[in-house]
This record gives sequence, C-alpha cells and structure tokens, in this order.
Amino acid sequence: MTTLARPLPPTSKPILGPRAYPLLGSLPQMRKDALAFFRSIPANYGGVARLMLGPQNFVLVTDPIAVKHCLIDNNKNYPKNYESTAQVFGEGLLSSNGDFWLRQRRIMQPAFHQREIANFASVMVEHAQRMVAGWPANTPLFVLKEMMQVTQTVILQVMFSTNIGTRTAEMGMAFDEIVAHFNRNMFTPIQLPWAKKRFDRAIQQIDEFLYGLIAERRQNLANAPQDLLTTLLTAIDPDTGQGMSDKQLRDEMLTLYFAGHETTATTLAWTLYFLAQNPAVEAKVREEITMVVGNRSPTIEDWQKLGYTRRVIDETLRMRSPAWMFTRIAKEDDMVNGYAIRKGQTMMFSPYVTHHLPEFWPEPDRFDPDRFLPGADVARPKAAYMPFSAGTRMCIGNIFALVESSLMLVTMLQAGKLIPVGNLSPKPHSGVILRPPSDMQMRFLR
Ligand code: HEM
Repeated sequence: MTTLARPLPPTSKPILGPRAYPLLGSLPQMRKDALAFFRSIPANYGGVARLMLGPQNFVLVTDPIAVKHCLIDNNKNYPKNYESTAQVFGEGLLSSNGDFWLRQRRIMQPAFHQREIANFASVMVEHAQRMVAGWPANTPLFVLKEMMQVTQTVILQVMFSTNIGTRTAEMGMAFDEIVAHFNRNMFTPIQLPWAKKRFDRAIQQIDEFLYGLIAERRQNLANAPQDLLTTLLTAIDPDTGQGMSDKQLRDEMLTLYFAGHETTATTLAWTLYFLAQNPAVEAKVREEITMVVGNRSPTIEDWQKLGYTRRVIDETLRMRSPAWMFTRIAKEDDMVNGYAIRKGQTMMFSPYVTHHLPEFWPEPDRFDPDRFLPGADVARPKAAYMPFSAGTRMCIGNIFALVESSLMLVTMLQAGKLIPVGNLSPKPHSGVILRPPSDMQMRFLR
C-alpha cells in the first residue's frame, strides 16, 4: 500500500485491493482477463477499492452510492484529468473542464435535444436501409465493420451533410490510428518513436480535413446546410456574444466524430449478438416492430412507442457498456462511503463492473430486457445503471445513440435475419471501448 504523508482521519476505513507487484502492480492479473479481474475486485475488496496498474495508483469506485457521491453529489471535486485525450481532442467537450467546458456544453446542448435528433432520424434510417440493401444473402459479414461503417457515415452526414467521398478510407485509417494510440496508452504513458510518428501523421491528416471543411463553410455560410457544423459555427455564447474559433470547432467536431460512432456501432453489434443468442427476445422485438412500424421506414415517433426494443438496447448497454471504464481526479480530500480520499487521487469508475454487481442485478450474466420494465428501477440506486456516466458530465449524445441504435436495429430486422457464424460466445475486447472481436461474423437471410 502507498504511504501517505498525512495521517488518515480516525474514522476512515482502510482501502483494500488486489496484490500489486513491484513496477507492474496488478497488470499481470489484468492481462489474463481484464474484465473478469475488474469484476472480481468489488466481490473481494468492496465497492471502493485500491488498484495499482503499472506505477499508477487508482481507487476503483463501483458501489452505486459511492459513484453517485463522486459523479453527482460532489462532482465539482472530481474533474477530468484527460491529458492524453486532450492531446488529440484539445478542448473538446470530452476532455475540457471548468468554466470553459460549461460554456461549450451550454452552446452545444440544444443541438442534442430530442426535437433536434428527430431531424437526424431519417438520415439514420436511410443509411441503415442502404447498408442492408447491399448485403449479399447468406454470406458471412463482419458485423462490427458493417456497424462501424454505417454509424461513421451517419455521424459525418449529421455533422457535415457530406459523406467524405474519396477521402473516407484515408480518414477512416487516420481515425483507426488514433483509436490504436488510445488503446496502446490506456494504462501506460510510454510512446514508441515509430508509433508516435504514425500518430502525428494521423493528426495532421485529420486537421487538414477538418480545418478545410470549416474554412469552406465559413466562406459560404449563406447557402450552408442545416447540419451540426452550421449549428455550432453560428452558435453564440450568450455571456460573451462570441462564436467558436476554428480551433474550438475543430476540437468539438473531432470529439463528436470520435465519441459518436464507435460507441453506437459496438452497441448494435452486441445487440445483434444477444438477439441471436436469445430467440424468444428476438421474437418479441419482431412482434413489436410488426405492431408499431410494419413495413414502412421507422420514425422518431415510433421510437417512443418501441418500449421493448428500447429495453433490449438498455440491457445490451448494461451487459456490454461501450465506455466500460473512465477516470476522474480528486481536487481536494474527501470521504467516500467512509473511505478517506486524498487530494490528487485518480478515481476509476466502471459502468461494466457496476452493471454486473449481483446485489443490484441478479444473475448479472443473463440477458433480460425486463430488468428495464417501467418502475423496475425504483428498486435500484440511481447510479447502479450508468452506461452514459452520470451527473453534469453525462454523455451529451445519449438520446442520439439510443435513437440511432433502435431505428437501425428495426431497419435490419425488417429486412431479414442475422445468424451467427462460428464462435458463439465472442470474448469482449477491453480497449478504450468494449468491442466484440472484429472477426465476429453473421450471415444475413433476407
Ligand atoms: C451507446 C453509445 C454511447 C455511449 C455508451 C456513450 C457513453 C459516454 C460516457 C460514459 C461518457 C462519459 C465519459 C467520461 O466521463 O470520460 C460520454 C461522454 C460524451 N459522449 Fe457519449 N456515448 C455514446 C454515444 C455518443 C454519441 C452518439 C455522441 C455524439 C454524437 C457522444 C458524445 C459524447 C460527448 C461529447 C461526451 C462528453 C460530454 C461532456 O463531458 O460534456 N456520445 N459518453
């Protein structure tokens, strides 16, 4: 255990945690099966536990009462400290803090209200329809790749009213390089020189692309389409009367692109997997689609009526939270569930682990959408379910993601049936995003 300079308050309980090896901490246990290891921590050491990963010391907070304290009740004491994220996204919403973050969030929030998402719903459905129309019958498809492509096209369309044509592949590779960079540096800051070179090149490509689009749009604002770029470019901060600079726009656009497609793509891929594993659930979803939508294109009004389909997405997000882990830093000393937390301590939260605590989620590995029946949540503490985090820093795109996942799922099921090929229990890959393996395949029967 680390030695603390100041004595703990006499009432504080000791924070326990798994064995930590010199220099490596618990990385050896984690490397075997990170998710199983993380899930074992609350059972063995409690809902506020100590964890060493390499030289980094974390307090893993999984108990919902403690989560609520940090992310909601006392959230001002737990800002983000996302240095490596900020290297890429600058002062975009994901990595900024304090007054700057609050101003940007206020400017951007209206663009993510449900009535605005309604304008995007037809884009989501149209691209999902094009995707399924292009699927060859009865041929194995790489599900994650398909979902990534379609969600990528949607977010680009919604942001820039364009799919980026010939530059799609180049940009896709540049973005993949950034995701690989985050995965490599998740628990260690070491950067190998050749990896850094590839990363710098990717950033340069992305910057050229984004600054190019911003400049074009500024020059031709009178004829600009009503997309997110125009909304943000014309948004005015009510306090200062000023709009966003090119750099702010670049940071926010890049943030939205990154946060806004892979998360939804993995949700969809996992949903297809769970439906294939649970035929009775799939039958109920199909029944609901027949009753609410029939054969026409689904709309945002349908989304409100598709209660069961929405519960299926909720349950997928419980079992396979794409953002399975994130951190905060304690600004001042604090007490959390009777444990003393020191100023400067890095706190770790894991929706994935909290969503598998058996005291709140009986038989946590069973896929059961009825856990989300209206009223069922009164038996659970507020932060027992937090796929989009909680409190002021909650995901700005949650409604966008829920609408997109449901409407795309409906569109795929209307067109046919997806049947898994090969490995029937794919192991989640726990990088920055909790993905299914990229070789997970399904056949499409029209
Ligand atoms: C199923 C899909 C999604 C999941 C599970 C998800 C989850 C999350 C989580 C857990 C956070 C908090 C991260 C942290 O504190 O480090 C977050 C933040 C954020 N998400 Fe999402 N997200 C999803 C989709 C989206 C979409 C579609 C967009 C945009 C179109 C988006 C944009 C953002 C942004 C900008 C933030 C930072 C918000 C802030 O701090 O003010 N997300 N998301």
